[in-house]
Amino acid sequence: MVVLRLILLINILKRENKMATLTSKKTKKSTEIKDNSYIRPAAEKLGVPFACNVGSCGSCMIDIVKGKENLSELTQAEKDVGLNKDRRFACQCKIKSGEVVIDF
Ligand code: FES
Repeated sequence: MVVLRLILLINILKRENKMATLTSKKTKKSTEIKDNSYIRPAAEKLGVPFACNVGSCGSCMIDIVKGKENLSELTQAEKDVGLNKDRRFACQCKIKSGEVVIDF
């Protein structure tokens, strides 16, 4: 019984620490981030410029080359300026899991 609980606990911990990957099409560099987290820190590492961080200036606009289904839904700020799932503001996106390839 103790062994089963230990196995269950290990599986839960593995699931909670899964990592997603953000990749730059231009540089081919990748960085890992926790599933269900904002992509901003990873995008910044890849060179995406940020300014307002609230979805109003447009400096962090990225094209989603691959994996748009792995990102969170469009925010109201993105909808307000007519963005879609192929072009997003990096400051507004969370990555669910898997890999997302961006260009900027
Ligand atoms: S940093 Fe201004 S829109 Fe993202």
